[in-house]
Amino acid sequence: MLKTRIAVLVSGGGTNLQALIDAEKSGVIKSGEIVLVVSNVKGAYALERAEKAGIEHMTLRKRDLGGQEGFERVLQAALEERGIELIILAGFMSILSADFTSKWPMRIINVHPALIPSFCGKGYYGLKVHEAALSYGVKVTGATVHFVNEVPDGGQIIAQRAVYIEDGDTPETLQLRVMREAEWKILPEAAETVSRQIMEGKDEIQH
Ligand code: GAR
Repeated sequence: MLKTRIAVLVSGGGTNLQALIDAEKSGVIKSGEIVLVVSNVKGAYALERAEKAGIEHMTLRKRDLGGQEGFERVLQAALEERGIELIILAGFMSILSADFTSKWPMRIINVHPALIPSFCGKGYYGLKVHEAALSYGVKVTGATVHFVNEVPDGGQIIAQRAVYIEDGDTPETLQLRVMREAEWKILPEAAETVSRQIMEGKDEIQH
């Protein structure tokens, strides 16, 4: 059966990308294959992870492509050329337009480092999410994987995992625990679930 062709969009260190690469190697992801990594930040370490794993990778920057519209036009062409069927946002720190997300209904998933609907939406990304959770004083946080639509962090939830806040946590220690205990597990699992659904859908069409 033909595996679901996956593109991963990144902006930074790429530990979630690494979790996806490792999950494909270990067989946790068996219905999909990562065929492309796109960074919107030049020199992002995630690109090196893609290189080491032998995955095609590229950098697309808004500023080089005439802004959001140009960026999304070139991205869309790159995805179409490679027959991409599922887009995974793994630490991708830029918001995609409604024009773009409407072309990919139920075909874009994102990992967010909090329990949506807490600490999410515009302005809540990366360490800022953990700073907000700590300053609010919540005792439990976690991570969410969800489908992406036109509302930032507003699409249907696929998976969530809770993580306890500990005395003395800083945004950095909390971020690492949320990644280790939640993100690096639920993102690959959700990637497999959605890849399998897409693959089975193709199977139905073929028969
Ligand atoms: C992760 O915690 C991810 O959930 C978060 O940024 C970090 C990226 O780390 N993403 C967002 O906040 C998106 N709104 P990584 O580059 O090591 O995967």
